[in-house]
Amino acid sequence: MMHNKIISLDEHIIRSQRNLPYATGELSSLLRDIGLASKIVSREVNKAGLVDIAGRADVENQSGDDVQKLDMLANDLLISCLRNSGECCGIASEEEEDFKTIETHKFSKYVVLFDPLDGSSNIDVNVSIGTIFAIYRRKTFDGECTKYDFLQKGVKQVAAGYVLYGSSTMLVYTTGRGVNGFTLDPSIGEFCLSHPNIQIPKSGKVYSVNQGNYNKYPSGARAYIDHCMNSDYSLRYIGSMVADVHRTLIKGGIFFYPATKSKPEGKLRLLYECNPLAMLIEGAGGKASNGRERILEIEPHELHQKTAVFMGSPMMVEEAEAYIREAELVTT
Ligand code: AHG
Ligand code: MN
Ligand code: MN
Repeated sequence: MMHNKIISLDEHIIRSQRNLPYATGELSSLLRDIGLASKIVSREVNKAGLVDIAGRADVENQSGDDVQKLDMLANDLLISCLRNSGECCGIASEEEEDFKTIETHKFSKYVVLFDPLDGSSNIDVNVSIGTIFAIYRRKTFDGECTKYDFLQKGVKQVAAGYVLYGSSTMLVYTTGRGVNGFTLDPSIGEFCLSHPNIQIPKSGKVYSVNQGNYNKYPSGARAYIDHCMNSDYSLRYIGSMVADVHRTLIKGGIFFYPATKSKPEGKLRLLYECNPLAMLIEGAGGKASNGRERILEIEPHELHQKTAVFMGSPMMVEEAEAYIREAELVTT
């Protein structure tokens, strides 16, 4: 039987690097290391039910050791892979209050920010979860990295991606020239190119929001939800941003998490959730905004900053923005 040539993630990264005349290979190497870390996380996620380590930071395992919660385990795995990588001088994570310098490679060029396990409330119930990452070139030139190397606008990302631990494990990444998706073939332990040059549909029929919060949303978001309900749209909401955005990227639609009265800044984090996913959505021809401005243009002030977010098919995001603008005209 004839097979098409399989393109592995590593091969794809190296091929893409060849098209960049001044590339030194450091970014390629960093991306490969993240790919490796995610294979280990994928293995651990897949056996979570089996060994009952999910969501239990406070219990002991049979040998009396503390059982690590899966999101902390993913965090530690990523940090140790990035420590060993040599291309990364510092990391910031959802699970770490402050950024960490990688002492042994403090002169390296890149910093990596990540959400080690997004959608962690879904771990216990075997629903899709994922890892989200963003890579920036450091701003400072020498010495240890500083907070300012991490507090950069999303437009400065040199690469971004996610790994989705779903019915299969998929890695989707971009370096700003196309968005490509790879599916993990567990029999050979390789991510294989399965979704080359992903393009998001210009419009879609699915809206994705926690509609249970409807009464807490501002009037513009409520008006847009009313519009969705009165259109021929379906509501799909997994509760793992990475999975909801993956569906949106492939099938079209809109994912949004507006501000609420109790969370006036929204819930989702700018630096390691919204920015990387916004870079992917835009790279595939979509839009990502906080309702007023482009997510990638928001100036960050702190590592764990939150933002309202509307991302997906360009026509649907523009429509949501129009409802928000209109509501603001009425109230101001
Ligand atoms: P995390 O598990 O990394 O803390 O993120 C959870 C986030 C995101 O994945 C999801 O879109 C959102 O929380 C769901 O929030 P609600 O339960 O408020 O809808
Ligand atoms: Mn998250
Ligand atoms: Mn998380």
